[in-house]
Order: sequence, then C-alpha cells, then structure tokens
Amino acid sequence: HPERSFIMIKPDGVQRQLIGEIISRFERRGYKLVAAKLMTPSVQLAKQHYAEHDGKPFFEPLVKFLTSGPVFAMVWEGKDIVATGRKMIGKTKPLDSEPGTIRGDFGIDVGRNLIHGSDSVDSANREIKLWFHAEDLNSWKPVT
Ligand code: CMP
Repeated sequence: HPERSFIMIKPDGVQRQLIGEIISRFERRGYKLVAAKLMTPSVQLAKQHYAEHDGKPFFEPLVKFLTSGPVFAMVWEGKDIVATGRKMIGKTKPLDSEPGTIRGDFGIDVGRNLIHGSDSVDSANREIKLWFHAEDLNSWKPVT
C-alpha cells in the first residue's frame, strides 16, 4: 500500500470541534482515510506513544493532557503523507506555525497544539501498530 501516517486530533481539538475541519483538509488534499476512532487513551498508551519524550520536563503534563479526554485517532494514506501531513499540521512552536497550517490557523499554545502527525515513516509504522489493530486498517480504491 502507499505511504501511511498516524494523525491524531488531541483532546483540545476534539473539544474545540475541529474534527470535521481537520478531516476536510486531508480529504481535499487528496489523502485517503484508512482508519479512525474516537477514544480516551490510557496512561500506558500515551506514555508509549510519547516514549521519545520520557524524561523531558513536559512529559508528565503531556501524558496527563492526552489522557484527559477523547482523541480522534486516524490513519491517512497517500503519496508522501508523512512529510506532507507534517506541513499541513504546522510547526510545534506557535511562532513558527505558519498561517494556512492547522496549528497556524487554530492555535497559539505549544502544549495545546490540536494535532499530532508522525515525524517519519518509521514512527508512522510504530504508531499505527500502537494505536490500531491490523484488521481495522481499510485499504480502498475508487471503483473504476
Ligand atoms: P508534538 O509535536 O505532537 O509532540 C510532542 C508534544 O509535546 C508537542 O506536540 C507538544 O504538544 C508537547 N509539548 C508541550 N510542551 C512542549 C515544549 N515545551 N516543547 C515541545 N513540545 C512540547
């Protein structure tokens, strides 16, 4: 299958009712949704997801925030989805997140930054496995 990325709307994005807006951006760009679920992550899952940040000063608050309410976890598929997805999301630092990006259009807070996107194809594969069962990934092609 073509490249896939794990894209997750964080609790602030769900609470601000940006799920539809965000899905729309990926759909209009031409990417395909292959899996999605609304769920409240466990502390264990959040810690595994953010394992690379373990030990950083923002790690505990980050895990607390991610587990505070439902997130909308998704897998998107298509050409260069990992890198393009990161561009569409925008930079972590609010001052660097350009208008036109999701963070640049909707956020000003480094912690409450609405959305996560895998930073490499390897991270994407790891994160997709962590959040989804293989049988819940739906590959599809338009009927011709
Ligand atoms: P993300 O880029 O998805 O992954 C790491 C997350 O840590 C980041 O989004 C932020 O939501 C969060 N975070 C909180 N505080 C900081 C900080 N000071 N620097 C970087 N990331 C932070």
